[in-house]
Amino acid sequence: MSEEILAFLGGGSMATSLIAGLIDDGWDPERISVAEPDRRQQEHLSDRWGVHVTHDNNEVAQRGTTVVLCVKPQIMATVVRGVASTLGARHPQPLVVSIAAGVREPDIRRWLNYDAAVVRAMPNTPALVRSGAAALYANAFVSEVQRNRAESILRAVGITLWFEDEDLLDAVTALSGSGPAYLFLWMELMASTGERLGLSREAANLLTLQTAFGAAKMALESSESPSMLRSRVTSAGGTTEQALKVLQQADLERIFYEALNRARERAVELGRLYGGK
Ligand SMILES: NC(=O)c1ccc[n+]([C@@H]2O[C@H](COP(=O)([O-])OP(=O)(O)OC[C@H]3O[C@@H](n4cnc5c(N)ncnc54)[C@H](OP(=O)(O)O)[C@@H]3O)[C@@H](O)[C@H]2O)c1
Repeated sequence: MSEEILAFLGGGSMATSLIAGLIDDGWDPERISVAEPDRRQQEHLSDRWGVHVTHDNNEVAQRGTTVVLCVKPQIMATVVRGVASTLGARHPQPLVVSIAAGVREPDIRRWLNYDAAVVRAMPNTPALVRSGAAALYANAFVSEVQRNRAESILRAVGITLWFEDEDLLDAVTALSGSGPAYLFLWMELMASTGERLGLSREAANLLTLQTAFGAAKMALESSESPSMLRSRVTSAGGTTEQALKVLQQADLERIFYEALNRARERAVELGRLYGGK
């Protein structure tokens, strides 16, 4: 791993979360290169994280032993085609990792125009604090060494899970890729309700966040299911029971299914819209 150079194409939110987590985990910033068009973001990346930053995608594609595609699905075809000859001409050719929602591996390989080793990854923003969750899928050209390399990058910032069926990455996108936003919404709602019940904003926020953290930690560390943990804190005739009754009347199961299924459908749609280019 000592010669490993990580090259990011696109240095926005998700790339920054990964870079921050990797550096926090001990990655040498000098072994990270980022191509990013926005000058303010370039400055942020180099001042805050000390990584090499340029506006030139081909410069970064030339350096990386692993090239991580971190641009929006909408511009993925243009960006990949723009570095295809640089990557294809290299010996050995670098591993290409895409984190884009929806964009399919066969489309990435077609844009690259050679039998590229491609891993698709679906991380999430808690990578920033090394508590991410990432799904991975490798095509047939990815060697065992490259598989381990992709996994070690994502594992530096959280947990990883491999999938053999690429289609399942759309479900992962809906669940954990977009998932932090659902939980942030839940926290917003709990905190603002706490305020309505008379608590100060600071107290309501702190109590909400620590409760969310504590419940997640407890569920992760327990051998019992969340459903069992929930029933244990719901005593008959108690306060929790009253609140849960109201929540369950709202048919949360259907609402969650509809919400996540819409996110999954959007991932499929992004793949169709921007993969076919
Ligand atoms: N955010 C998440 O929670 C999350 C989770 C999992 C996966 N993803 C995936 O991660 C990818 C990036 O998402 P994001 O949220 O990080 O978006 P973002 O913050 O908009 O980052 C994309 C970055 O790429 C830059 N860029 C635009 N054109 C470029 C070009 N031609 N060459 C190189 N860089 C270019 C953008 O610069 P400008 O701002 O100047 O256009 C921007 O800084 C997406 O494909 C998304 O599906 C995101």
